[in-house]
Amino acid sequence: MSDEREILQPEDWAGEMGARWLAGIDDFEAMIAPVGAALLARAAYAEGDRVVDIGCGGGATSLAIASEVGPSGSVVGIDISPDLTAKATERAAEAGTLNAQFIYADAASYRPDAPFDRLFSRFGSMFFPDPYAAFAHLHGCLRPGGRIDLAVWGPPRDNPWMMEMMGVLRRHMEVPPVAPRTPGPFALEDVDYLTAILMDGGFTGLDVAPYTGLQPIGGPGASPADAVRFSVSSLAAGRLLEGAPTALRHRVEDDLLALFARHHRPDEGVMMTGKVWLVSANA
Ligand SMILES: C[S@@+](CC[C@H](N)C(=O)[O-])C[C@H]1O[C@@H](n2cnc3c(N)ncnc32)[C@H](O)[C@@H]1O
Repeated sequence: MSDEREILQPEDWAGEMGARWLAGIDDFEAMIAPVGAALLARAAYAEGDRVVDIGCGGGATSLAIASEVGPSGSVVGIDISPDLTAKATERAAEAGTLNAQFIYADAASYRPDAPFDRLFSRFGSMFFPDPYAAFAHLHGCLRPGGRIDLAVWGPPRDNPWMMEMMGVLRRHMEVPPVAPRTPGPFALEDVDYLTAILMDGGFTGLDVAPYTGLQPIGGPGASPADAVRFSVSSLAAGRLLEGAPTALRHRVEDDLLALFARHHRPDEGVMMTGKVWLVSANA
């Protein structure tokens, strides 16, 4: 039986994880840009829509939504990392976007003054400690007839971009197990579980579409060495290697380099497969 200390600790987005995301923000966003585009196309916003971007990070998708809903619409990006809402606010000011606002809050409890038309989230909804309560709360933030559109990672076995990296780490060190449904990237990988959460929260008319695509690790055009730097500074590999002896780090980095070289495509970058669920439901 696992001892509590052996379980990987939940991701601290208000602190360390938010800082990691901020440090690698351009590469992270470039890696998941195609998923954002697919989710925005599904959401098909109309002029005037009032939208919440849950776990908006640095606000890349919020700013895209702001442009789609036009000046008569608006978007509120909510994030539990103050560093990231500050970054998003700065970007909106730089872009002269007036209909986007960013709020540092926990989306599981943030209560808007008036109900919204739509909720959106690209990979920002898998971290709630109590997802049943969080999604019931989010349902209550929508007007009747409103809609939610989410992107969440599919099962780890279908996400070699993450699993092959973890496989490299496991060859060299003990990697703590992650219990299924633990808040984290794969918390909502099981469609039956996700469906139960949304239906329990009051959502209806669920539609779940698989999305499979190549993720550019470290951003488009990254070399295998760039992808190693990105993975050890920004991804879970970095967390696991914190405090590891230098020789061990070097062995891991050498193996990651070999892994990424196998997936490297000239002119494209280090391209590894990712599987995502695009989920829509009505309030
Ligand atoms: C993987 S990042 C995705 C960021 C952004 N949606 C994007 O696609 O660029 C997950 C984001 O969810 C945020 N987050 C995690 N738990 C949250 C919560 N309870 N309330 C609000 N934001 C949360 C994190 O701070 C982080 O910015």
